[in-house]
This record gives sequence, C-alpha cells and structure tokens, in this order.
Amino acid sequence: MPRGSRAPLIIGSGIAGLYVALRSRELGLSPTIVTKSVLDEANTRYAQGGIAAAIGVGDSVDLHLRDTIRAGAGLVDRAAALRLTHEAPARIADLVRYGVPFDTVEGQIALGREAAHSRSRILHAGGDATGLRIEETLKARVLETDIEVRERTVLRRLDTGRDGIAATLSRPDGRDVEVVRGRPVVLATGGAGSLYRESSNPSIATGEGVAIAFRAGARIADMEFLQFHPTTFCRAGAPRFLLTEALRGEGAVLRGAGGERFMPRYHSAAELAPRDVVTRAIQSELVRTGARCVYLDATALPAERLFARFPTVCRFLAGYHLDPSRDRIPVVPAAHYMIGGVATDLEGHTSLPGLLACGEVTSTGVHGANRLASNSLLEGLVFGEHVARDLARPRRGRPPAPGRLLSLPVPAGEGHGLDRTVTTQVRDLLWDDVGIVREGGALEGAVRRLDALALRCEPSDPAGLPGPVANHVELARLIAWSALTRTESRGAHYRSDHPRSRARWRLHIGIGRTTTA
Ligand code: SIN
Repeated sequence: MPRGSRAPLIIGSGIAGLYVALRSRELGLSPTIVTKSVLDEANTRYAQGGIAAAIGVGDSVDLHLRDTIRAGAGLVDRAAALRLTHEAPARIADLVRYGVPFDTVEGQIALGREAAHSRSRILHAGGDATGLRIEETLKARVLETDIEVRERTVLRRLDTGRDGIAATLSRPDGRDVEVVRGRPVVLATGGAGSLYRESSNPSIATGEGVAIAFRAGARIADMEFLQFHPTTFCRAGAPRFLLTEALRGEGAVLRGAGGERFMPRYHSAAELAPRDVVTRAIQSELVRTGARCVYLDATALPAERLFARFPTVCRFLAGYHLDPSRDRIPVVPAAHYMIGGVATDLEGHTSLPGLLACGEVTSTGVHGANRLASNSLLEGLVFGEHVARDLARPRRGRPPAPGRLLSLPVPAGEGHGLDRTVTTQVRDLLWDDVGIVREGGALEGAVRRLDALALRCEPSDPAGLPGPVANHVELARLIAWSALTRTESRGAHYRSDHPRSRARWRLHIGIGRTTTA
C-alpha cells in the first residue's frame, strides 16, 4: 500500500472524526485530524440526551431496528438500520473501553427513555452531559497517541485527480493555503443546524463539508429532511438551548399558555410521539393561539431526580432564574439535525474515489425521513468503524443510485464570498421559507433568492477558493431545491400544499453537480 494511503486525513473532530482516528490508529494507520476550531469544539459536545443501544433486559436489537424504521416514515434503508442497531452494543463496548463514564445504577449502565423508543435504551453520562463526556474522553485518548492534530485548519476545497482526492486547507482567515494530495480523505464535518435562524446547534455547525463535497462532484442526498427539535429554550436574547427529549422521557409534559396539555390531542403517544409529530404539534399550537412559546412542565418530577439527571439543563435555567422543579419552561422548536448529506454506502464510500464520509455529514438512508432520538451519536460510531476498517483494507464501493436525481449547476459568481450579512440572510430565509411547515410558493421564492446569492458569492474563477459564506449559500440551495422537489409530506419534511405522503415519493432525492452553469 503506498505510504499516503496509510495516512488518512480526517476532517472534523466530533464523535465520528475522533472515533475514526482512534480506530484507524489501532488498525496500524497514521491519521491526521483536521479541525476548524479546537479539537473538542464540535456539535457532539452539546448532545445531552444520550446514545441508543439495545443493551437492557427485555430489549433487543430487533426492537431497536423496528423503532428506527418506524420513526423514519417509510424511507429507512433497512440494511443501514440493521447495521446501526445490531452493531450498537459492540460500539458501546468500545466507548466503555476508551473510558466513557456512562451513568450507572447499582453497577449496571443506567438506561433512559426517549420519544418513539419502545424500550428504555438511552445511555447517558454526567446526567445530561453525554456528548461532552464522550468528546472529552475520545479527545483524551487521541492526545495519548501520536495522531497528528491540526486545529484551526479549514477544508477549503476538494479536487479529484489521478492520485485520488486533493484537499486544500487553510487557516480560518484564509492564510497558509496548502494542498494535500495522495491521502484518503474522511469527511466527518457534521451537520448544518446553525444555518437556520433558530437552532439548537453551536455556531460551528454550518455543514460546509457538504457544500465542498458537492462542488467537487460528490452526490448529495435527502437534503429536504432537516430535523427540528421540539423543545429549545425560548427567551428573548437567550440562545435556543436544547431541553433534552429525555426530560419528556422522564415524565415532563407540554402545556399551552393556559396550562392545558395538548399533545394527547395530536398523537396516542402524546409527548413521546416521534420528534416530527411533537414539533409540528407545537407549531400548530403557536399558530392557533398566537402564543410565542409553549411550556415544558417537569414540576411533577422529584426535584432531586431532576437535578441529578439533568444538571446541565438545571444549571443553564438557573442563569435565567428558572427552576424546573417549580417553574414551567418556555420552549419552541428549532433546527437540530441534518438527516441528508453526502451520499455514502454502508462502508462510507462516497461517489468520489478516495473520499469517505461518516456521521451527520452523510446520508446513508439510516434515518429515513426522520431520525429516532439518540441514534445520531451512534451513527458516528457504527459507520465510523466501517470507515476505519475500509481505510485499513480499502475496498471499492459507491452509494446506491437515488430514486430521483436533480442536477444543479454551481454558477461562476462574483466572488463576494466574505460578506457575512449573506449568512444572516440565509439563516432567515431557511427558517422563514424552508422551515417546519413549507409551501410551494415560498420554496420557489427561496430557491430564486438562493440562486441569486450563489451568483454573488461563488468565486468567478473555477480554480478559486470559495469562502464560508459561499458554502452556506450552496448548502441552503441544496436544502431548498430538495424541499421544492418533494411534493409530499413525509417525516421531517412537511408541505402545507401537499400534506400527505405519496407512494410515488417513497424514494430518495439525490443531487449531483452539473459541470457548467
Ligand atoms: C436530545 O437530547 O433531545 C437530543 C437527542 C438527539 O437529538 O438524538
């Protein structure tokens, strides 16, 4: 094997990137981690609820599989979900081996409940600090090895060539441009939630890996499925802080401003209905009543239990003089998780030889049209394991063909990719017109405006380096075009002008780049 192929370049340092780095090092490779911020600043760090695995008494990997498929609204790729759920216990054992301090009860790993899971199967750590504990632990293991870590280094573009993929890197301010050739590249750059004005994600979650892969010619899929989390904190001037689904799993309920519970009117599972159902129910209540928020009521839970199980949430709320054991918490939905992304097969192969991907940046079909809670950290591990194995013993593969393929050009633009006000426009536009409830006219307007913004922001020279703002516009275009194309409602994608699911849309929408504008 040539030397470079034993030295993968892993872009991103969330659970997927760190895990691939550790496992590929264990398999004898010499990976480098490239991260645009510092090593442990990734979306993973903010994950509260936990990580799902069927390890409890009375649970089974097949029940986890069934719940994953049910939540996915007819679009889950069964083979992907089988892999996710059946390999979950082994990947949890890896995390335990690396030292992740999962919470226990009487010596056994404690398991919580979350929406649309038929069993208690959510492992957590530090109560509601699961992502943080995982990120800290994996970071510590990485730092004990000789894995090279390049912080504050940004992927600027990918190019295909005779010796595989070339990755252009630079400092965040554009200095020190460098082209790395002849090494396999693993995209683990995460999701794009913060491209929406209202988002539970940290500001780094802008999905640029997808835009860069798309420009390089990689196939993208399922971009219309952007998942909204039902319960984020609502207070003027405050961040949309996540109030984990596990609170509802423990018995918290949702109430309108008048104090009435409304979820039983929307679904037999009430507050434990699938995430898209709860999100839309809240949205309907807001429209129906004209209220600014609804309320998460955990006051029936014992105070000690609340403080022990949800210390992060309680600490955050204390900063706003709220105590969830006494006060109802104002909440609204916000953008949370990108179900679509760079299309891959189950080993992480993209449509570009030499480019692999895993975690939230990908679309494997594992979540269908709606991801089951706490399957996302798991996805990074399970598919990350196969990427690591493939890096050690490369095999050929490519993602399956989508049922419908859109071809989109990337225009030669005017190169004004540094205007940050454009990102603000994109965030407003996505939230207002490509949000929880979508409609054809608004989507057409969004597509028109985003195409115009792409003309402004893409570099005029095809060999130029697009800036982050151009990536934000490109990614938003992919979401808006996909949402306009899918003329039905399914899972996280809801169209008021096409409110039902249609059999003919039981397919994935892929997007490929056309070579000319
Ligand atoms: C949560 O804690 O509610 C988020 C978990 C997830 O997105 O899976």
